[in-house]
Amino acid sequence: MKEKRHTHFVCQACGHQSSKWMGRCPQCTQWNTLVEEKKVEAGRDKNGLLGSGIGGEGESPQPIDQVKMSENDRISTGIGEFDRVLGGGIVAGSVILIGGDPGIGKSTLLLQALNGLASEDCRVLYISGEESVRQIKMRAQRLSTLSPHLFVMAENSLEKILRETMTLKPKMLVIDSIQTIYTSELQSAPGSIGQVRESSARLAMLSKSKEISTCIIGHVTKEGAIAGPRVLEHMVDTVLYFEGDRGHPYRILRTVKNRFGSANEIGVFEMNEEGLSEVFNPSELFLSQRSMNVSGSVVVPSMEGSRPILVEIQALVSHTNLAVPRRTSIGVDHQRVSLLAAVLERQLNVPLYNRDIFLNVAGGVKVEEPAIDLGIVAAVASSALNKSIDTKTVFIGEVGLTGEVRGISQLEIRLKEASKLGFKTALVPEVNKERMHGASSMKVVGVSSIKDVLTIVS
Ligand code: TYD
Ligand code: MG
Repeated sequence: MKEKRHTHFVCQACGHQSSKWMGRCPQCTQWNTLVEEKKVEAGRDKNGLLGSGIGGEGESPQPIDQVKMSENDRISTGIGEFDRVLGGGIVAGSVILIGGDPGIGKSTLLLQALNGLASEDCRVLYISGEESVRQIKMRAQRLSTLSPHLFVMAENSLEKILRETMTLKPKMLVIDSIQTIYTSELQSAPGSIGQVRESSARLAMLSKSKEISTCIIGHVTKEGAIAGPRVLEHMVDTVLYFEGDRGHPYRILRTVKNRFGSANEIGVFEMNEEGLSEVFNPSELFLSQRSMNVSGSVVVPSMEGSRPILVEIQALVSHTNLAVPRRTSIGVDHQRVSLLAAVLERQLNVPLYNRDIFLNVAGGVKVEEPAIDLGIVAAVASSALNKSIDTKTVFIGEVGLTGEVRGISQLEIRLKEASKLGFKTALVPEVNKERMHGASSMKVVGVSSIKDVLTIVS
């Protein structure tokens, strides 16, 4: 008798089902959209996680004020920067996805975090699909993460992982990496979308039902998305990216999504021989190599989540040989730079139409908030006019199309950080200055238009 198949292929674009894989969906004619999925049989738990349903206890509706919370819902990893990115520690039973380029330090970070968590009444389990237990131990020796409560296993089979996890009952589980895990229920190869999705879904189910916090490590594709793309992001509670330049020792852990905290938080680390160490004052780090009294360099206090970080914006404006001048930027949105360059040209009569603009945020950080606009304008103007800006001044403000400087949020804590690092003057939006109560230790200058900035630059 022919064996009955439990899987089929489903087009991710239109939902068409087929019993065999095809390169092109016959219904919607899109390419490469068929993904292997388990067939859902009536009367059976969809995910078939050893027969248990979601949740276990507390399945019937209950009044919200009577929902029981455990004493310490968050557990600290002992790594402050990591805890901050998670919103103050790991939430029990949460699922975290951490992505990053190969070799950036994901395994190192998680091994260190697990070691910090491990204790008498907190067993933790690290599962590697890439390295043998001996290799893990070698790394652990180097990192001095040899807690007797840290368990390790080299395994690729999802079923074995689920079984062992349920036996060991760890508080935290790390899967390194999801692309190497496979379930025998699907025929496709490990790393394929079908496998990645099915494995993650079942790990997430286990995590929720047994209150085991799970961290899934995912490799990033060339396009920069975690492989098995968006499908994983909505399955998990928190998505973190570990980024950095392998040529630099600095690494940034960034929250992309967080159900239990702010989603813009960053943690800064430094990679050295003993693994990753926290960088307690990132502002100092990002400004450490700043050259003084040169044109085109401006410091802005940017909010990264709940924390202000001072970054240096560098601009270089030079004569172009091209018909359409270049607007190149690293660390800030280049559309924003083009827009601000146009405003600058129009409002301040600084000719830029025949000049290339290169913009860089020093130290490899990315800044996204509009409050850095004024800093960009000042940096570009400074380089275009070849006039240096006072090195003890910071710029804060959003710039509109008519050259007006708009209000920003959280001025006080930005000023506090700037003052802490020895800055003396701050250019801030006029509206923010009016609303300020209490004196600042800095000289605060309110500006309502970028015209006011030119008087400072020149
Ligand atoms: P790893 O954690 O294996 O990266 P990933 O899991 O993201 O692929 O980190 C590997 C890199 O980190 C490797 O290039 C060597 C470097 N490294 C150190 O510099 N110091 C250390 O103590 C360790 C363990 C790694
Ligand atoms: Mg690794």
